[in-house]
Amino acid sequence: MVFTDSLAAYLAEVILSHLALTCVFLLATLAAVRWYIRDSYKVDGFSQKHVLITGCDSGFGNLLAKQLDRKGFQVMAACLTEKGAADLAAAASPRLKTFLLDVTDSASIRKAVESVSREVGERGLWGLVNNAGRSTPIGPTEWMKLEDFTKVLDVNLIGVIDVTLQFLPLLKKARGRVVNVASILGRLSVTGGGYCLSKWGVEAFSDSLRRNMQHFGINVSIIEPGFFKTNVTRVDLIDADLRRLWSRLPQDVKDSYGATYLDEYMKAQAFSMGLLCSPDISKVTRCMEHALTARFPRRRYAAGWDAKLFWIPLSYLPSFVADFMVNVILPSPKQNM
Ligand SMILES: *[C@@H]1O[C@H](CO)[C@@H](O)[C@H](O)[C@H]1NC(C)=O
Ligand SMILES: *[C@@H]1O[C@H](CO)[C@@H](O)[C@H](O)[C@H]1NC(C)=O
Repeated sequence: MVFTDSLAAYLAEVILSHLALTCVFLLATLAAVRWYIRDSYKVDGFSQKHVLITGCDSGFGNLLAKQLDRKGFQVMAACLTEKGAADLAAAASPRLKTFLLDVTDSASIRKAVESVSREVGERGLWGLVNNAGRSTPIGPTEWMKLEDFTKVLDVNLIGVIDVTLQFLPLLKKARGRVVNVASILGRLSVTGGGYCLSKWGVEAFSDSLRRNMQHFGINVSIIEPGFFKTNVTRVDLIDADLRRLWSRLPQDVKDSYGATYLDEYMKAQAFSMGLLCSPDISKVTRCMEHALTARFPRRRYAAGWDAKLFWIPLSYLPSFVADFMVNVILPSPKQNM
């Protein structure tokens, strides 16, 4: 009797815990399906929507401009160079407008606001994609001068702030969207120079902009690409600049690194970039397109497997883990004082 009682209690317990587990599993599946469906809702009227993209000469900006043009958007593609603008115009529909913009020049931005304002009229600006950016000078902190930092910060951070502030009235009119290109290096400072600083700054600026402007129906999304093959990661351009930084160092500083350090550093960089850089930059532009076309855009988009599975998880771990990883990737100076 006692035996069958306890057996019954045991069985009841097993059945209940199975039931609870099944419920949790079902709820999680339902939540995932609901999220997936919600994520796929789109806004309509692409052909009535104007999107301005900076840095369209090459890379992400160039591909996004063509991609949105094919979808029927009114694309306004800002380029730094005449050649970039002409090449893009030749590769797109007549609807796509190109113009020259230097994001480090407030007057150049002001001129762009005037012409965009005439173009969009009462509709306002649906999308602003702050994509223009540069990486060099990038390398060991000790090799930099102040102007090496500001060269990058002026484009990647101050440029983003200036462009955003000047276009905000037009964005407000359309209850539009801002899409800012940060980087996984906006979460992990794995190298010196202005690049990581600028991208941390873009993350912070975008977070405050989103929280401040949501009251006006403006959505702000941050794109965090991992490593992709663009001008920003071109090893030949980065190496040429590293040689410039190295060649002007005082001899005692060079000695503290050792005569072979520069070569080892460039070799390690070429190796890891070769391993990491994905040629499929459409992974990034698909995130940008989602941010501009989804009814419910996300706050953050991680683009690329390295960002999703490695860099962003690493950014949540204690700092000593990231320190260790960087030490594995980069060579050590000869003289460990
Ligand atoms: C990319 O690099 C090439 C080679 O230096 C240069 O000609 C081109 O202007 C660069 N593109 C941009 C957008 O800076
Ligand atoms: C987008 O904007 C709406 C309206 O302001 C807001 O409710 C929503 O939370 C925003 N979404 C994101 C991801 O910022």
